[in-house]
Amino acid sequence: MKASKEKYIIICYSTSEMLNADRVIKSQGIHTDLVPTPIQYGSICSTSIAIAKEDRQLVENTLKENNLSFKEIHPYESRKLSGLMESLKKNIITHTFRDIMSKIEEDLDITKEEITYLLKTESKNEIEAIFQTADQMRKEIVGDVVEIRGAIEFSNHCKKNCNYCGIRRGCTVPKRYRMEEEEIMEVIHQLHSWGIKTVILQSGEDDYYTTEILVKLIRRIKRETKMMITLSIGERSFTDYETLREAGANNFLLKIETTNKDIFKFIHPDDDFDERLKCSKGLRQLGYVNGSGNMIGLPGQRPEDIAEDILFFKDMAIHMIGIGPFIPAKGTPFELYPQGSVEMTLRAVAITRLVCKNVFLPATTALASIDPDGQTKALQAGANTIMLISTPAKYRSNYQIYSNKNMIDLQSAFRAVKESGRKLPKYLKISPEEVQ
Ligand code: 5AD
Ligand code: SF4
Repeated sequence: MKASKEKYIIICYSTSEMLNADRVIKSQGIHTDLVPTPIQYGSICSTSIAIAKEDRQLVENTLKENNLSFKEIHPYESRKLSGLMESLKKNIITHTFRDIMSKIEEDLDITKEEITYLLKTESKNEIEAIFQTADQMRKEIVGDVVEIRGAIEFSNHCKKNCNYCGIRRGCTVPKRYRMEEEEIMEVIHQLHSWGIKTVILQSGEDDYYTTEILVKLIRRIKRETKMMITLSIGERSFTDYETLREAGANNFLLKIETTNKDIFKFIHPDDDFDERLKCSKGLRQLGYVNGSGNMIGLPGQRPEDIAEDILFFKDMAIHMIGIGPFIPAKGTPFELYPQGSVEMTLRAVAITRLVCKNVFLPATTALASIDPDGQTKALQAGANTIMLISTPAKYRSNYQIYSNKNMIDLQSAFRAVKESGRKLPKYLKISPEEVQ
């Protein structure tokens, strides 16, 4: 979509209709991009099809000829950044950097090589400009409010043995636990009473929680609180994902961790990259708001790999992107590998904002665990979401996916929001004074 700066987006009635329409449009040789549907157009289909302005008539005719209907078509608001090049003029920067930033200002796609350049540059001026631009983009696109969500790590049992993870099946964990429905609901009600709108149910890959058990829980959460539900329970069958979606789950977080297939294999002894990709595509097809993410500083990972990850998030129209540093976990095969850097993680967050634009970018717990100011720094580098760790205190220390995992509670979330000069969501019913 480089030739035309002006785009239109097509919003369909369902994700499967959207994917079908996209396939038919592409089969006519017309270029499309899948993009997260802008919030003002509602949530009927969370992903839309972006096309060049000059293709609009052709696309509408194609869809008509194929009896494919769509809900709406709108001009896609250009994400031009006002005054960016003007402000850069003052600084000493390379031609390459200037060209990349001018593409970003004009809302044109940047290439893997250009993203790699941004990840690698050692120029202080350029690094500063990357963070400032990401912050400006965040402000213009998603605003100043920091979305606050609650995460409940409801089971630390896992049948998998990911080499980096402190709760892998081969690890000796002080205590393996599973929370029962009542215990989970107690936490949910507390989050609900604080006004929080989204709960993340996270666990290891634990088959104890059958689809049936999860469906019952999801229905109960919806019935009693109407909260949005994000599942983060790993790989399951398409049918399971479908049943959970039908029961009311809204979002699904399944991280790709890395798009480098060799590294993926090296860190995941019992996972297959193509299978993970298939799961992610299945989730999108089912209309989940799709979450992914990666780790920074994995063994053998190069800036080129991170650039590829960022393009993957964009191409898959991922809405929620968790980017955290790799942290060596005691007792795992990777305990002696070096930790990922805070600086590179922040830079990856910033560039992801520049490339993926209208997405939820959490200031991750992993970042907060290796830098006490990690959350504030992430919020200033393009992030706009905080996930509270809402696992009951008696279980928390047993969910050490990495060593020295930090505790993100309301107090630390409020601190990060304040320090980064941002706003708390209006829906919150609890104020910073109440949690002192
Ligand atoms: N370092 C950083 N992140 C980790 N995760 C698991 N283990 C580690 C680690 N050692 C993250 C992964 C996984 C999520 C549950 O936690 O991204 O998806
Ligand atoms: Fe299990 Fe997830 Fe840890 Fe892998 S990363 S061992 S799937 S909890």
